[in-house]
Amino acid sequence: MYKTITMADDLLKKVIAHAKEYGFIFPSSEIYDGLGAVYDYGQNGVELKNNIKQYWWNAMVRLHENIVGIDSSIFMHPTIWKASGHVDAFNDPLIDNKDSKKRYRADVLIEEEREKHNQKILKEIEKGRKKFGDSFDEAKARETNPNILREQAKIDEITKRYDEALNANDLEAMRQLILDLGIVCPISGTANWSEVRQFNLMFETKLGSTAEGASSIYLRPETAQGIFVNYLNVQKTGRMKIPFGIAQIGKAFRNEIVARQFVFRMREFEQMEMQFFVRPGSEMEWFAKWKAERLAWHKALGLGDNNYRYHDHEKLAHYANAATDIEFNFPMGFKELEGIHSRTNFDLSQHQKFSGKKIQYFDPELNESYVPYVIETSIGLDRTVLAVLSNSYCEEQLDGEVREVLRIPAAIAPVKFAIMPLTKKDGLPEVAQKLMKQLEIECNCQYEEKDSIGKRYRRQDAIGTPYCITVDHQTLEDNTVTVRERDTMEQVRMSIDEVVATLPQKVSMASLLRKIQ
Ligand code: GAP
Repeated sequence: MYKTITMADDLLKKVIAHAKEYGFIFPSSEIYDGLGAVYDYGQNGVELKNNIKQYWWNAMVRLHENIVGIDSSIFMHPTIWKASGHVDAFNDPLIDNKDSKKRYRADVLIEEEREKHNQKILKEIEKGRKKFGDSFDEAKARETNPNILREQAKIDEITKRYDEALNANDLEAMRQLILDLGIVCPISGTANWSEVRQFNLMFETKLGSTAEGASSIYLRPETAQGIFVNYLNVQKTGRMKIPFGIAQIGKAFRNEIVARQFVFRMREFEQMEMQFFVRPGSEMEWFAKWKAERLAWHKALGLGDNNYRYHDHEKLAHYANAATDIEFNFPMGFKELEGIHSRTNFDLSQHQKFSGKKIQYFDPELNESYVPYVIETSIGLDRTVLAVLSNSYCEEQLDGEVREVLRIPAAIAPVKFAIMPLTKKDGLPEVAQKLMKQLEIECNCQYEEKDSIGKRYRRQDAIGTPYCITVDHQTLEDNTVTVRERDTMEQVRMSIDEVVATLPQKVSMASLLRKIQ
């Protein structure tokens, strides 16, 4: 009956427009022409976001007896950012195009150039797959196909020079690479580039009311440091035994130079971070465990296993001894969604040094004290929202019309049930309202009585409501309703008792958590 329209390259644009039209995400301060890379969540967006938070929080805190949560402040003592290294090194390399006066991240320009070659390889593989079907051998093609080999050689060359420049912190080498690759500004079309300079991403503000007494503080650029500086408080008051974790969800702020691609890169965003404190020497084992566990969390959502991949870091930050990203296949290609880092005892040691307080753990089994090592899992909430929206957005050809549907996993859908009386009379609204009362204590529901049933279905499809429940005249006779499922559009007749007893479970957070328990 219906056919899915193949999504074109403009998926991101469609998602942005859809998110605005259906109350998910609005540009911030829109009536004042907006504010760059800052967004507001609307009535459906906030429900989706809260559901994702709940999924993460329950998976991390409720399902792990040795993980507890906190909610630390956004303003923190400025020395924290000196200790963490953010004051000196939380920089991005920026480059200006002298003709368009536009500013870019030098590293992003290079990475995008490299990705173009990767895309060419993927196209070539797709071509092979279409031509040879099941007998196509991707690994062999990567080894023998001259077009793929040529593109791979270019990728390897870029990676080599890029890594050398990064490792040596050689900004001139980075600029030279941009020139050699012939990268031009998309606005002016020229390669008239400035020097590459480092730019600190932290927002600075003043604490205190008088000019003389005011001191500079920062809006936190990550939630992690709020966890580190509360390590002792939580460990002592919670009588936590290593290994244990502290989790937190909260806002972070970064003055991103190039803030594009919707909620992928924002200046104000939310992180869901967990620091797991372990015995020194055991960190690699825990790193591997968390790497696997976090990927399983993502996959359980049901956005497609092939849409995730690991990107192990070759170049490690000076404090890390292992790091990987979980990348998601966003409309603009595979990009970081979550970072998992083995941060050694760097952060706690630095805070010990800068605060002068002893930050250690007495291990009764070893009968010794040490500064714990840390495995960090850090996921962007807004990026997860984008992953869900872009993956769920679908256009289907349906009887000569286009049906826009968000196939959002049921457990995190903003509205779970739409309850609709067929008409506004004959007592149908009263029965529907009564059903609404029964279901709304279980989950978020919407009552809809305006417009034709077809129009109401379309509206609910567009916001991703898994089930529409229609009360009609037959309901008055036999207490049954029509339940219409979003993805298949199949309709079944069910008694109201059965609806109340069975449907909430299908859309519950518990159903999702069960997959990863
Ligand atoms: N504490 C470690 C940390 O902050 P990160 O890789 O800088 O690591 C972690 O950030 C996650 O936060 C990223 O994987 C990404 O999902 C999200 N994130 C980072 N910067 C962001 C931004 N400007 N806008 C939206 N999400 C961002």
